[in-house]
Amino acid sequence: MAFTMTEPQPQAPKVSVAKAKGRPMLSWVGKRPLGRVTAYPAQRIERFAVDGPAHFSAGVDGSGWPAAFERGGLLFHGDNKDVLAHLLANGFRGKVRLIYIDPPFDSGADYVRKVQLRGPKASVKIDGEDYGLGEQVQYTDIWSNDNYLQFIYERLLMLKMLLAEDGAIYLHCDPSRNSYLRVLMDEVFGADAFINEIVWQRLSAHNDAGRYGIIHDTIYYYGPADRVWNPQRTELRDIYVQQFFDQIEEGTSRRYSRSDLTARGLRNGETGKPWRGINPGEKGNHWKVAVSKLDEWDAEGRIHWPKTAGGMPRLKRFLDEALEQGGTAQDIWLDIRPIHNQSDELLGYPTQKPEALVTRIVKASTNPGDIVLDCFLGSGTTALVAQKLGRRWIGCDINKGAIQTAAKRLQGVMREQADALARNTQGELLTPADAATPPAQLSFTTWRVNDYDLQIQHNEAAELVCQHLGVTRTRTDPFFDGTLGRQLVKVVPLNHPLSPLDCEALRLELKTRPDEERDIVLVCLGLEQAAREWVAQHNRQSPINRLQIVELRGDRKAGGVIRHEPMSAQVSVRREGTGSDERLVVEIAEVVSPAILQRLAQQSGVLRAEIDDWRAVVDCVLIDTAHDGEVFNVALADVPERKQDLVAGRYELPAPPAGACVAVKIVDMLGEEWLHCVSV
Ligand SMILES: C[S@@+](CC[C@H](N)C(=O)[O-])C[C@H]1O[C@@H](n2cnc3c(N)ncnc32)[C@H](O)[C@@H]1O
Repeated sequence: MAFTMTEPQPQAPKVSVAKAKGRPMLSWVGKRPLGRVTAYPAQRIERFAVDGPAHFSAGVDGSGWPAAFERGGLLFHGDNKDVLAHLLANGFRGKVRLIYIDPPFDSGADYVRKVQLRGPKASVKIDGEDYGLGEQVQYTDIWSNDNYLQFIYERLLMLKMLLAEDGAIYLHCDPSRNSYLRVLMDEVFGADAFINEIVWQRLSAHNDAGRYGIIHDTIYYYGPADRVWNPQRTELRDIYVQQFFDQIEEGTSRRYSRSDLTARGLRNGETGKPWRGINPGEKGNHWKVAVSKLDEWDAEGRIHWPKTAGGMPRLKRFLDEALEQGGTAQDIWLDIRPIHNQSDELLGYPTQKPEALVTRIVKASTNPGDIVLDCFLGSGTTALVAQKLGRRWIGCDINKGAIQTAAKRLQGVMREQADALARNTQGELLTPADAATPPAQLSFTTWRVNDYDLQIQHNEAAELVCQHLGVTRTRTDPFFDGTLGRQLVKVVPLNHPLSPLDCEALRLELKTRPDEERDIVLVCLGLEQAAREWVAQHNRQSPINRLQIVELRGDRKAGGVIRHEPMSAQVSVRREGTGSDERLVVEIAEVVSPAILQRLAQQSGVLRAEIDDWRAVVDCVLIDTAHDGEVFNVALADVPERKQDLVAGRYELPAPPAGACVAVKIVDMLGEEWLHCVSV
């Protein structure tokens, strides 16, 4: 397994977390306030900029942007608890105008992504068989007891501190836990900040045995009275048109609906006067507009006069005009289709949300240039929409596959925006939508918080470790990974040595399980001395839950697991041509991914896994022509849009200065990365 051990950072600062604001409170076993959270440092790992050094576009007020961060989009790989603490400790407190989060729903499922090799189906055959790589767990949504509520509660407390005073938050959930989540939102943000419960109908039908089919999600919208609010238009629905636009105007044949011209209550002024012999006050009502306006409407033919004597006049709303204007978005959203198999947007990332849904939210609750945050970013929909609408954005996900997917999408849209801007300056017309929302930035940086430096995803690593040690997986337990005989097993993320912080997390977890008496195996790659002492002291003091450490690096038997063979590649990086013709040529001759070969070999029916065209295993190729050894500056990204397309494999770029360090990053279809640096 490819890994980088990093130095422990025991002195990381703490962020004090404010108490919840609201009066209603939800209680659960093991509920604990957050108090203080460690703010780990972040490492910048990748930079993408289409138009030179990172900056905000003209017109975007970047004055409040914290100095610790480069200007542009921010994409964080890490647990959002750590990332939010890092943002709070580094200047983002009170800066975010909109938060949209779509966390795991406590659905009890593992969310998987189907992984395939690249290329048209017919062109890559493996022993004559199909070439699917099976499914890769992207994230799990299986929680025990009330851990889920504690998990969300902690994130909400920190999100509240990041929100601007006039900022709003939308929490996307489904019926599995929405009743609890609403009370939690009331507790953290205050019940008076509740604005809407939005129901998004995402399916037309669902076959749920023994009950009504569940076809909707719920989105809770909270914010203060002075929040940004831009009402959104929607298309009129057929059923509404048929039901309400039931009148035909004589002479013109225009269809129209009728609505009341009066409202309850007596008034003295213009709206209380009789009009055309009708006194609304007789029935305790008043006109909705001044009588002069009624005259105006009547002259325009907008008043419907009933044929029967004594009937009340009503206002005509013509269908042709209504269709053009659309309706105002209400709290039931029926007009947004989910991502389905034929969607143009489909990326294969589980639970990906449609752009249209997030677009409505971002447009309604922000203005161009505002900062939008999503700390459960998934495939990157929120950041992408914010980017398209000229907003600034911050995204975070714990899953490396999510970060890779989001980065690819964002690079694509930034390039398109840069092309559109270039066409515009050359006098070509942009669509009005493009012109109205110039991008707030054409660059972003990717960061890692709490030393996430594993070259494969944690889920994959944990799976490998458990298989290797013969651990029986317990998928219903969010903390422990499985059991080994009578012992519980915890695989500590292999991206850092076991630290006292991990031990503390274990202690807190055990506190919530007073009846747990089993001993525990902690599996780690290596461990800090302080953690070794912590474990020794724990074992001296505690007669139960005794700890045993399996240190993979040093253990001859167990250490075999880290014989994971990393990807390899043959890449030539050279200069060609001379003088002004000189250019940099990067050519890839071969890429071998043992992890993929192993996966293929495990697929039933595939005896000998051979891949004729190496490009089938490569998801994308990135090149940095001036690598500084730390941050990868994306000068070229070859990310084929469709799964059936292959990377080019040969690239020509402007020649960098003599002696420049050129870095080539190859990402395979399982998300494993390979980096090659060479001076040219
Ligand atoms: C429902 S998905 C979000 C989908 C997203 N809205 C989209 O359109 O693609 C939830 C995401 O939360 C991420 N996640 C779960 N726990 C997390 C944590 N502790 N920190 C950061 N991300 C987390 C998962 O990896 C997953 O990508």
